[in-house]
Amino acid sequence: MTSSAFAPRRVAVTGAASGIGKAVVELFRARGDEVIAVDLKDADVCADLGTPAGRQEAVRAVLERSGGVLDAVIACAGISAQVPATVAVNYFGVTELLQGLRPALARAEAPRAAFVGSIVGTKTGADDVVDACLAGDEPGALAAAAVLAEAGRGNALYPASKMALARWVRRTSVTDDWAGAGIPLNAVGPGVVLTPMHAAVAVTEEQRRIVAQAVPMPLNGHAEPEVVARALLWLASVENTHVTGQVLYVDGGAEVVLRGPDHV
Ligand code: NAI
Repeated sequence: MTSSAFAPRRVAVTGAASGIGKAVVELFRARGDEVIAVDLKDADVCADLGTPAGRQEAVRAVLERSGGVLDAVIACAGISAQVPATVAVNYFGVTELLQGLRPALARAEAPRAAFVGSIVGTKTGADDVVDACLAGDEPGALAAAAVLAEAGRGNALYPASKMALARWVRRTSVTDDWAGAGIPLNAVGPGVVLTPMHAAVAVTEEQRRIVAQAVPMPLNGHAEPEVVARALLWLASVENTHVTGQVLYVDGGAEVVLRGPDHV
């Protein structure tokens, strides 16, 4: 591998207009990398990653802008609403986009892919949704999600989308398409990150208490988006030659506290 760690890279970033994705874009641009920003609005490529047509449009437009060669893709777009669309955006908006852009990664010298999972993906009560996601069955996943939402269990959908991603990365990373093509594929699993998404769900003192209890972060507490962005940049860097299929928890210790010392 001859690629320099410091040569400018051409990268695509989703969820680029806010929070973690925005921090990723700023870090890349600050070091001279070329970023193709993808989001619903305020981006180079505006597309809805919650629909198959929107994903196809995003892939088409990114391929056109990149000339068909990408050094890295970082998928950050996500929502946490208690509705089926959360599964469409968070799971299929990541996996289909990465698969659509994979050929452009395969043409690069040191390609990398990474996306944002979550600490909440370590637990779910929505196995039907997770299974349908992993089967690549979006209509089935959305139907199962709708059943849960109608039963008042919409709060299981965001964790389900993230658990499916955590399992997908293990299944997919070691295949011929990814490891075989020399493309590390990883996730980060943040705890609580101080972004607009978090602000929207932690408005009241009671909500903040519930979040803090659900996600205990003994090391340094809640994180700024740059903290997660820096981990994503390393996973997507030339230096990462051998880490693949992992969820790197950037969570102040929450995963260890929640799963316990013997989980390996
Ligand atoms: P954010 O709300 O600040 O940013 C999310 C971005 O995704 C927005 O710019 C939004 O427009 C974009 N987006 C949403 N739906 C989209 C769609 N259908 N098509 C295209 N773009 C769309 O949220 P934040 O916190 O930066 O979240 C980024 C990722 O981090 C998400 O995947 C989220 O689940 C994950 N995460 C966030 C945590 C937190 O505490 N903030 C904790 C763990 C994971």
